[in-house]
Formats: sequence, C-alpha cells, structure tokens
Amino acid sequence: MQLKGKYAIITGANRGIGRAITEKFAAEGACIWACARKCTQEFEEDMKLLSKQYGVFIQPVYFDLKSEQEIVSGIKQILAKKKPIDILVNNAGIAASGLLTMTPVSVLKDVFEVNFFAQVFLMQLVAKKMIRQKNGCIINMVSVGGIEHRQGYLAYGSSKAALIWTTRMAAKELGIYGIRVNGIAPATVDTDMGHYRNEEELKKVIEDTPLGRLAKSAEIAEAAVFLASPKASFITGDILKVDGGRT
Ligand SMILES: NC(=O)c1ccc[n+]([C@@H]2O[C@H](COP(=O)([O-])OP(=O)(O)OC[C@H]3O[C@@H](n4cnc5c(N)ncnc54)[C@H](OP(=O)(O)O)[C@@H]3O)[C@@H](O)[C@H]2O)c1
Repeated sequence: MQLKGKYAIITGANRGIGRAITEKFAAEGACIWACARKCTQEFEEDMKLLSKQYGVFIQPVYFDLKSEQEIVSGIKQILAKKKPIDILVNNAGIAASGLLTMTPVSVLKDVFEVNFFAQVFLMQLVAKKMIRQKNGCIINMVSVGGIEHRQGYLAYGSSKAALIWTTRMAAKELGIYGIRVNGIAPATVDTDMGHYRNEEELKKVIEDTPLGRLAKSAEIAEAAVFLASPKASFITGDILKVDGGRT
C-alpha cells in the first residue's frame, strides 16, 4: 500500500498506459480522479468495479485536452471537493508520424496542443494547489521518442522533447515547495498507440530492443507507482527510461 490515502489525478485513464496506472494506483490504496475525454457507460462501470475491487475512491472526470475551458472546469470540479492533490499523472497523449518536409505546421500545432500545451496547463493549475500544500508529485508521460532523434517523428518527438525540458525545469522551480516533478520515458508499449507503427517498423523496434519485446502497460505503471511513492522521496527532475535497453 505505497500510495494509501494519496489523491491522484490520472489523465487518459480509460485505456492503455493510463488504465494500467489507474489500476496499480488503486491497488496501492490511492484515491483517484480518473480523467477521460468522454463519458461512456463502459468507462463508468470499469471505474466502479475497480473502486469496489480495491476499496478505494475513484471518481471519473471528463475533459478534452484540446479545450482549455474543459480542462479548467474538470480541475475546478476536483478542487471543489477540497481534498489534497498529492499526485498528477499527465499521461494522455497522441501519436503522430511524418518527415520534416512532409509535416504541415497545422499537424505540429495539433500534436503540441495535446502532448505539450495541455500538459503544461494542467501542471500550472495543479501546481498552484500543490504550492499551497507545500507538497506534491507530478509525473509526465514522455517518451524515448523525445530523447532519440528517430526520423519520421517530427511532431511527436519534438512535443515529448519539449515536455522533457519542462519536466526538468519545473523540478527546479517547484522543489522549494516540496513538489517533485519527474518523467517516465517508455519505448514502444503494447497498447493501441504502440501498434500505431506498421508491422515492419514494430519488428525493427523489437530487434533494436535488447530485451526483445514491447513493454507491457503494467510495467510502465510500476514505474509510476515508484516515482509517486515515498521510495522516490529524493528523486526529482529525472526522466526514468522504461525502454528494455533501446536507447
Ligand atoms: N504506447 C507507446 O508505445 C508509448 C511509448 C512512449 C510513450 N507513450 C506515451 O504514453 C502515454 C499513453 O499512451 P498509450 O500507449 O496509453 O496511448 P493510447 O492507448 O493511445 O491512449 C491514449 C490516451 O490518451 C487519451 N487522449 C488522447 N487525446 C486526448 C484528448 N484530446 N483529450 C483527452 N484525452 C485524450 C485517450 O483518450 P481516448 O480514448 O478518448 O482517445 C487515451 O485515454 C502517451 O502520452 C504516450 O505518448 C506511449
């Protein structure tokens, strides 16, 4: 029970890595604001079941990361409950591929809107509360794509590189308030996004990975539990690679 009684906001909680983090956090005793873009019966029921299974508070919250207005109203809804915000997991994101000369600026802007601007905006809103609390933990889901310089990933790679920079900078600005800010950089994970690459590319990715396979979303979730837990109490400004040795 490494996160017992801690309140966490997790974005992209409905599927992939975010769903895995939600389940691991629940298993570790966290109370969760499970954020998703859209309200569906399937998600509502899934969260109810998780809440019952682990005996923890889980409340779905809905906002589209492309809408500043929706983000503000989602966070206001959370703040209105007057609970602490101990952890923010900025997980939701989108994939995009395209060569430098083939990527319209409009696509770059779209990807940055979700993978960078929305993440920074959430950090700003939540950090204000964490500053008042004089403690908090922010985990940004970045990617080895923001560290490597793989051709054909201009928009995705640069959006994650920008988030890595911001993660490190925020750790420096917010450390004085007892707020830790870290990133997790997975390589390709076995989720819908992982399968965004075509089969040939996936085969190459696996060949380039010393552990010879894709990551499981539960393995990324373990890294998030560690960074959010007291075991990581002196870790900030770090980008934890969970990449099977790829980089
Ligand atoms: N999978 C990989 O290989 C990999 C590798 C490195 C890093 N990552 C990073 O890990 C994070 C999670 O990836 P994943 O593999 O779990 O991806 P995924 O399976 O495609 O899930 C993406 C999640 O982000 C949400 N999302 C996307 N756009 C949104 C928006 N405008 N507003 C609100 N929510 C939005 C999705 O919601 P909907 O269901 O509504 O679309 C979904 O919950 C991302 O930041 C990704 O860049 C993934």
